Amino acid sequence: MSGQILLETRGMSKTFGGLKAVDDVSLQLREGIVTTLVGPNGAGKTTLFNLITGHLEPDAGEVLWLGQSIKGMPHWKIAQAGIGRTFQDLKLFDQMTVLENVLTVTERGSWFWQGGGTAARAERLAQAEAALAAVGLADHRHTRALDLAYAERKFLSIARILSSGARLWLLDEPASGLDRSSYERFLGLLREQVGKGITICIIEHNLDIVQGISDRIAFLDQGRLLAEGDPKSILNDPALAAIYFGERA
Ligand SMILES: Nc1ncnc2c1ncn2[C@@H]1O[C@H](COP(=O)(O)OP(=O)(O)O)[C@@H](O)[C@H]1O
Ligand SMILES: [Mg+2]
Repeated sequence: MSGQILLETRGMSKTFGGLKAVDDVSLQLREGIVTTLVGPNGAGKTTLFNLITGHLEPDAGEVLWLGQSIKGMPHWKIAQAGIGRTFQDLKLFDQMTVLENVLTVTERGSWFWQGGGTAARAERLAQAEAALAAVGLADHRHTRALDLAYAERKFLSIARILSSGARLWLLDEPASGLDRSSYERFLGLLREQVGKGITICIIEHNLDIVQGISDRIAFLDQGRLLAEGDPKSILNDPALAAIYFGERA
């Protein structure tokens, strides 16, 4: 397998009440590789993202980014280190325009007294505009996020992660509910970014998309990493298929 390990979890665990949401998960994400997290609803996929990004604290385990522990770091610091994410519910600023939604990302790290003046501001604007052009939202730059169509909101969340400059993208069901032409455009966009060196871990249910994008698949069920490997071996495993389609004995 090529690519250095960018991010690694070791023995990651999180319990809510008596429920083991994430149970001893050790996973490696390698540079330039698309790893897809699959598994039934409630398997712990989103919780695993939250543990990696500092939105939740693990009960046990380690998270290493470029070989260094990032456990316990605040989520904004982890984002600044180069780990970007999207949320299942997108978390857009509904009352802001499309462009403003992207600018909140590019301006996040810049204190007002370090604004860098006109040149730096122009550069951040150019970065935001480039991200909007890449996802096909340039013509909507002054539309309020609230007034976007469903698929456009999804693409806006991608523009935000794109303009963040993150090296690793954690995408939580970014294609759910997209019609076929939208998700094909979305897949093209992801492939283009992977071609530019972006590393992706994506939570996805649509098996067409899973097959279309994955270099590796990690299969979670009831908090445990049941299997991890190349797409063919995972997708052709009848025991995993039974779990995935809810035919567990
Ligand atoms: N903040 C929370 N408090 C209590 N239970 C939670 C919380 N977040 C997730 N869970 C539970 O943990 C399990 C895993 O959830 P989640 O990670 O969202 O699964 P997935 O993303 O795979 O559908 C589910 O049973 C869910 O109800
Ligand atoms: Mg989820």
